[in-house]
Amino acid sequence: MKQIHVGLIGFGTVGSGLAQTLHEQKDRLLRKVGAQVVLSRVADINIDALPEQFSGTILSKDAGDIFTDPEIDIVVELIGGMEPARTFLLEAIKHGKHVVTANKALLSIHGKEIFQAAVANNVEVGFEASVGGGIPVIKSLKEGLVANRIESIMGIMNGTANYILTKMTDHGVPFAEVLQDAQEQGFAEADPTYDVEGIDTAHKLAILMTIAYGKYVHLNDIHTEGISNIKPIDIDFAREFGCRIKLLAISRNHGSHVEARVHPTMVPESHMLANINGAYNAIHFTGDTVGNVLLYGLGAGMMPTGSAVAADVVDIGRNILCGSVNRVPALSYLPENIGIPKITPMKELSCAYYFRITALDKPGVLSTISGIFGTHNISIKSVIQKSRHEYEPVYIVIHTHVANEEAVQQAIAEIDALDVCTEATVKIRILTTDE
Ligand code: HSE
Repeated sequence: MKQIHVGLIGFGTVGSGLAQTLHEQKDRLLRKVGAQVVLSRVADINIDALPEQFSGTILSKDAGDIFTDPEIDIVVELIGGMEPARTFLLEAIKHGKHVVTANKALLSIHGKEIFQAAVANNVEVGFEASVGGGIPVIKSLKEGLVANRIESIMGIMNGTANYILTKMTDHGVPFAEVLQDAQEQGFAEADPTYDVEGIDTAHKLAILMTIAYGKYVHLNDIHTEGISNIKPIDIDFAREFGCRIKLLAISRNHGSHVEARVHPTMVPESHMLANINGAYNAIHFTGDTVGNVLLYGLGAGMMPTGSAVAADVVDIGRNILCGSVNRVPALSYLPENIGIPKITPMKELSCAYYFRITALDKPGVLSTISGIFGTHNISIKSVIQKSRHEYEPVYIVIHTHVANEEAVQQAIAEIDALDVCTEATVKIRILTTDE
């Protein structure tokens, strides 16, 4: 019987999900692959024994035992973070092992180094689980949409942030309270800053842009804003405007340059992305040939993510069996055709905006603020002031027509410098219905 031997580094949540999947699906996989996919080795510094069903798997504390075992075909890295994950992947590649990882943070920073090392050593890199958990988003983009020029990528790529915003919207619960709930449910990152400040979403957008455009997009290329300053009152105002607030990853392809941004966005209620709720993810592509494609599913969790890692293992296993390594290039474009991206500067962006300005309720304040917007050629669509007591800070909420980002940044800097403004202005970009 033919066998594909897998070595796993990291038996945490996703590692256990992979092990369980390979174990539970072994007969099905045999019927589909024509070989046994065997979890031969596990390396994890934190555990002394594997669950009973993995009695045939060798456990060690040293990842080096996996690279140097000549029987291992595929090394799966599921420890996350930068180091030692980067070194482990590079070492495995140097030893001629195919590698699979779910490590989006690593790939969005050191992806170029890892992909180039894999090409140099003629091995494959699977990374389906790095974006959208169990949703086969990378395979869809690399293979299903191969005959398209990708015009745009737009998505909800962080389950924790979406869960928080959904709870705030449906139950009016404050941000901090829902974050704690998300952590208890186990899908928040170890450091929830990555989830709520948009960093995890930016990791994923960098990976998708790299594949979509054939350019090495780095985390630093992505303008990133999070949701930690969103208050229930912003959600209420969004509702008044017929919108819901979502943390969106957005990239548009302008040919010579591409947009790359992650920020909270007011999405019209009629838009599909406004209706993706709870911990679910959804990624929307527009291709010039196919038109619009929406992929939806669980973006995190032991079994959904384990399913995506198992899919990579099987893909590579099938290639090994038919002797065709890198039949599909890791990034879809041939390595020699991958360039460096030109990112559209944020200041060139134009869209409609929502501002929540916190100011003292004194005569002349509103006219000063609207005067600043006028000076910067920003046209106001509506103004709402929620009054409390005279001379106490109030929220002045402004909805603008389409305005230029650079002008907006200058206007907000001037407004926030006014003596009467007591807190930094909250700015949320508004998506139009046709986007
Ligand atoms: N913390 C991530 C999320 C997990 O909440 O979506 C998967 O990247």
